[in-house]
Amino acid sequence: MSSKMHPDNDVTINPSNNASIRDVMEQFKGRRNFLKGSLGMATVATLGGFGLEAKAAYPTAPAPGGGGITFTGIPPNLAATFVDAVSVPTGYTAKTLVGWGDAIGVMGPDALISHDHSDPMPISAARQNTTFGQHNDGMHFFPFPGVGGAPSNERGLLVVNHEYVDPGLHANTSSYGTITITKALVDAQVAAHGVSVLELRKLGGEWTVVKPSPFARRITGATPMVLSGPAAGDAALQTSADPTGTRVLGTLNNCAHGITPWGTYLTCEENWNGYFGANGSFTQTAAERRYGVTASGFGYRWHLGDSRFDLNAPGNRNEPNRFGWVVEIDPFNPRAMPIKRTALGRIKHESADFAVAPDGTICFYTGDDERNDYMYKFVCAGKFNRTNRAANRNLLDSGTLYVAKFNADGTGEWLPLVFGQGGLTPANGFTSQADVLIRTRQAADRAGATMMDRPEWVAVHPTTREVYLTLTNNNRRGTNPPSSNNPDGSSSAGGARPSVDAANPRPDNRYGHIIRWTETGNNPAATTFAWDIFVECGDKLNPAANLKGNIVGDDLGAPDGLWFDRDGRLWIQTDQQGDGLGDWTNIGGNAMFAADPSTRRITRFLTSPRNCETTGVVSTPDGKTMFVGIQHPGEDWAPGAYTAKSTWPDSGANGPTTQATVAKPRSALVVVTKNDGGVIGT
Ligand code: FEO
Ligand code: CA
Ligand code: CA
Ligand code: CA
Repeated sequence: MSSKMHPDNDVTINPSNNASIRDVMEQFKGRRNFLKGSLGMATVATLGGFGLEAKAAYPTAPAPGGGGITFTGIPPNLAATFVDAVSVPTGYTAKTLVGWGDAIGVMGPDALISHDHSDPMPISAARQNTTFGQHNDGMHFFPFPGVGGAPSNERGLLVVNHEYVDPGLHANTSSYGTITITKALVDAQVAAHGVSVLELRKLGGEWTVVKPSPFARRITGATPMVLSGPAAGDAALQTSADPTGTRVLGTLNNCAHGITPWGTYLTCEENWNGYFGANGSFTQTAAERRYGVTASGFGYRWHLGDSRFDLNAPGNRNEPNRFGWVVEIDPFNPRAMPIKRTALGRIKHESADFAVAPDGTICFYTGDDERNDYMYKFVCAGKFNRTNRAANRNLLDSGTLYVAKFNADGTGEWLPLVFGQGGLTPANGFTSQADVLIRTRQAADRAGATMMDRPEWVAVHPTTREVYLTLTNNNRRGTNPPSSNNPDGSSSAGGARPSVDAANPRPDNRYGHIIRWTETGNNPAATTFAWDIFVECGDKLNPAANLKGNIVGDDLGAPDGLWFDRDGRLWIQTDQQGDGLGDWTNIGGNAMFAADPSTRRITRFLTSPRNCETTGVVSTPDGKTMFVGIQHPGEDWAPGAYTAKSTWPDSGANGPTTQATVAKPRSALVVVTKNDGGVIGT
């Protein structure tokens, strides 16, 4: 069934009436000479997977170390001298590329969202549907073919997640909690989520968004998509709006991402639970409690304007079960429906990264970002086919999902989440593999996985296949938590509050750590591994021994974004709460660092504006252009308080600082280049 549902196989499943890419490019012929470039239809069909499989077959295999980190680190952005800007080392330049509300080249007239607070409110879905969404997060650059068939370093598609919306900033009101929630307001916020696909080109030395582009696309919380894999069609995925349990509107809370070596993009649904609420009385089920689905949600109040988000609407109780998945997107086929791959489990997916062996054995790692939740691995049943892209299109529908157990002796086990095995039986309430996948967290509880200090991004080394995982922080371990519930209403396994263990050794882990492991035999399908802690983050100047950490180099806290570049430099992005003005006195605001896996030395590369986090980083294939994401500058913005908040990236651009004309803080991407044209990090 699922192969028939793949967009490439069945042209009838796209109800959007979007023009096919051939139609689109025909339209371009007359007015933009699009096809005069190096890119014709013949090559478009083969673009996917181009230059992606760095982990398996890098053209010039880098050394397993840090690839050479030779830039001079920059100081932290400290409270006393705080700069509301992006700073990079001497010899480097950072420029804003695109931000919330900017046109991304979707066909049709541009209806931009203003850079100040003068917009009529609310911003409409129509405007948000053609512009860069809010709060960009994970992203990837897919190069076009360049000179001599090598991946281009000057032209490609940038695919970017939009994690969430700040409803007050989006609606330009400080009274969001009391305003009337209309369907139009919900639609506009829904449209701010999801994914943007942008075509980028370097012209005259400057990176620009190609406008219009036949590839430009917004995928939002309302875009039709397919559920595939073992849980597709299950009764628990059926709603009155979709009795088939196979068609979903949209993707939400698109945090970090992944790619496949066959050239598709994976967007990961993280804190999807918070968008739902209940009109009227609501009795939470055990599964809803485990995932934090509550009557009030996170305060978006969408359930008051759109019955799809109302848990009490007739036939709608299963709608949250249709979120929490990894979604596969083919960026080179603008008419292909995104596909939610249920085989990878339903959790609060942070990101996904793959490891592939020379024989094509392939797995995907994905963490569940919640206090005391788990780390997962999906091993595809089939092998990656390097010569036939189409043969890989449904690899993510069949395989085995595992959850990690970290033993105290430095070994680890992958515990299979397979119906009928390990207590996942009818006697324990599990009814099928679909049930195991829809209630992945509860299956993993039963399997006996290790509760972790919030798994965020995972990154696989390009040549050694060693796996690194950020564990950002945890304040609910040992005797520390005031209650077993997490702030979003979810509960740890069995309501338990774990004590420390070898893999999560600190009772008050406010600075987080990074763990790493190698699969037995370096086999992506192995069921055992060996692990160690790469670094305990902290503040060397903090008087509390538990908070000093063991960093070699520059201190950091709350590691989140994690990415290996082509040469094996490990880039770490932080997500401390707020400005870093409290516990972060010595560390400063959020930043991005380069680490050498061999020496463990960590060096600060980029500091960021006020009240933002750094999230999302990727380079062109030559490593000479880096795209970096800045998310939620001026977090918790409110009118009247703007002078104390960020106005990045448009600071000073809008004249007098009255409320209407002051620049509003916008999540945005920056382009980082080295002034001598060299590789970023050298
Ligand atoms: Fe969206 Fe766990 O960061
Ligand atoms: Ca994150
Ligand atoms: Ca985070
Ligand atoms: Ca975030």
